[in-house]
Amino acid sequence: MNKYGLIGFPLTHSFSAKFFTEKFAKEHINAEYLNFEIDDISYIREIIYTNPQLKGLNVTIPYKEKVMPFLDEISAEAREIGAVNTIKINRIADNEYNLVGDNTDYIGFKNSISPILRPEIHKRALILGTGGASKAVAYTLTDLGLEWKYVSRTKLKNNFTYTELTSDILSKYTVIINASPVGTFPNVDECPSIPYEFLTSNHLLYDLVYNPAETLFLKKGKTNGAIIKNGKEMLELQALAAWDIFNSKI
Ligand SMILES: NC(=O)c1ccc[n+]([C@@H]2O[C@H](COP(=O)([O-])OP(=O)(O)OC[C@H]3O[C@@H](n4cnc5c(N)ncnc54)[C@H](OP(=O)(O)O)[C@@H]3O)[C@@H](O)[C@H]2O)c1
Repeated sequence: MNKYGLIGFPLTHSFSAKFFTEKFAKEHINAEYLNFEIDDISYIREIIYTNPQLKGLNVTIPYKEKVMPFLDEISAEAREIGAVNTIKINRIADNEYNLVGDNTDYIGFKNSISPILRPEIHKRALILGTGGASKAVAYTLTDLGLEWKYVSRTKLKNNFTYTELTSDILSKYTVIINASPVGTFPNVDECPSIPYEFLTSNHLLYDLVYNPAETLFLKKGKTNGAIIKNGKEMLELQALAAWDIFNSKI
């Protein structure tokens, strides 16, 4: 029986295990999905050698960057983003494997935001947060032809801080993506510190957070007439893209 799994730490509420286990049951796929909660990324070797039926791994926090030196190949997209969340395991011979890393967060984000973008009004985007997920978002936005800027709590080169955001900036940057964990359950009364009063029906607010389904960030956007979307579909689409990679011939 083929095996698939997730590496990360901690893995208390894993979306992937539930998603793939349900998919296997619904589609009568004879496979198993396992959580590998490891406190050091070097255990990846042991996992692969002791599970010869393993065909693919999803990678989550805190290993999306740290896993890269353990791989034989990395897709151009994942290399540019600087993070791997999907590993296809090709068995060459007994105890010999070729590990190929990819990033499907950007595929999930791209396919989820593309249908709601209106090119005539959505030309520039603000990305709130500068962590791992924000890099996949930035890569996608460039790919989609949008100009973008990071918004951080820290002044960096060529970004905005939250306190610098003005009416003028928000009238130009009509797409705002929350790529920070702010507002995630149980902290549902928190939201990124942007001046919500300047939002209009020309704005699109996208939250990578999906729990709760409507964060305070999205609620405030909706109140001001903005189009809103949470990260649930992105999560599902990145998982399906990973499944396609696990089962690809290459
Ligand atoms: N829907 C999906 O498929 C999907 C995929 C990936 C990630 N996500 C979600 O996206 C979010 C970001 O993921 P990540 O891995 O990039 O997380 P992360 O590294 O923990 O945080 C991202 C950035 O958010 C900012 N931030 C963190 N805590 C903050 C706070 N208290 N106040 C204001 N800003 C804060 C920081 O940027 P600055 O220091 O520059 O302010 C940080 O670098 C998470 O909630 C994650 O669950 C969703």
